[in-house]
Amino acid sequence: MDNKRVLITGAAGFVGSNLCLELQKQDYEVIALDIFSKGSKRNLSGFDGKIIDGDIRDFDWKREKVDAIIHEGAITDTTIKDREKMFSVNFQAFKKIIEYCKQNRTNLVYASSASVYGRGKIPMQEEQEKDILSYYAESKLEMDIFASENLSLFEERELKLVGLRYFNVYGPREMYKGKMASMIYQLCLQMKSGQKPKVFKYGEQTRDFVYIQDVINATILALNAKKNGVYNIGSGKSSSFNKIIKELNKNLNTELNPEYINNPYSHYQNHTLADISNAQKFLNYHPEYSIEKGIVDYIKFLEKKE
Ligand SMILES: NC(=O)c1ccc[n+]([C@@H]2O[C@H](COP(=O)([O-])OP(=O)(O)OC[C@H]3O[C@@H](n4cnc5c(N)ncnc54)[C@H](O)[C@@H]3O)[C@@H](O)[C@H]2O)c1
Repeated sequence: MDNKRVLITGAAGFVGSNLCLELQKQDYEVIALDIFSKGSKRNLSGFDGKIIDGDIRDFDWKREKVDAIIHEGAITDTTIKDREKMFSVNFQAFKKIIEYCKQNRTNLVYASSASVYGRGKIPMQEEQEKDILSYYAESKLEMDIFASENLSLFEERELKLVGLRYFNVYGPREMYKGKMASMIYQLCLQMKSGQKPKVFKYGEQTRDFVYIQDVINATILALNAKKNGVYNIGSGKSSSFNKIIKELNKNLNTELNPEYINNPYSHYQNHTLADISNAQKFLNYHPEYSIEKGIVDYIKFLEKKE
């Protein structure tokens, strides 16, 4: 199957919109589905495929016959305390998508999350013990478990079923996410307005920040995965918040020192770092953006927007 007709859920969101635009460039026929609750219509400017305003919880998947579904749609606010709502969007809707794909010969690539590792040991490996700190992370882990229970049926039918545990994604089209946008974007905004960048004491927490272009490449590669399963998608390197501030100072021509504040969270991921060896081997994923290169590219994009 050449996967040339693809439906993307969460298509107006950060990852979804970048994916729509890239697949369009690569001559895929793309159908964009979003409820437009969070995603922004502006994110899809320049996209000229079909756009459907619909809810993944009750969408009639039979409406659009596609080779593959790339499922990005989700409640992505990790602080939401309404478990029922989180599960109805993130998990129940996913179960229906799995059932549909299984019965209708459709490949499926879906977004999981590195949040399932919580404060686990680094580098984080797919099989390590999970540490669930939020309903969001719990809903993503349930997705992975349900997918793993369906792996053999997909395999018998020669279908792809690939989950991607994205790490800390940053880059163009995340702006509308507000407090849920990446720390790189938050720090950049503060510094551009002349404020000292605020980070928790003492800025030495680290994140595997992965640039959106690498995430998009990984997601497209997953359509032709050599093996079904769930894969870490990070850069394979981690950077401290202090390092990010240093890079931003360099690129914004500022000299702002961090303001260190108390961390009010008792459950906080101090470090994330992806072991990407499985994605390298089975997806042929090789990230191209170092943190330095990603920040240069991102700032260029933000400056063009002003
Ligand atoms: N951005 C990251 O750093 C990151 C990290 C790990 C995992 N992820 C996962 O990747 C995926 C994409 O993330 P993102 O950053 O683009 O998030 P996002 O919030 O920007 O996009 C999610 C999109 O889903 C849509 N949506 C929500 N409920 C819906 C519903 N009921 N029906 C249809 N559409 C609905 C929203 O309107 C939004 O446009 C998500 O599944 C997220 O959990 C993202």
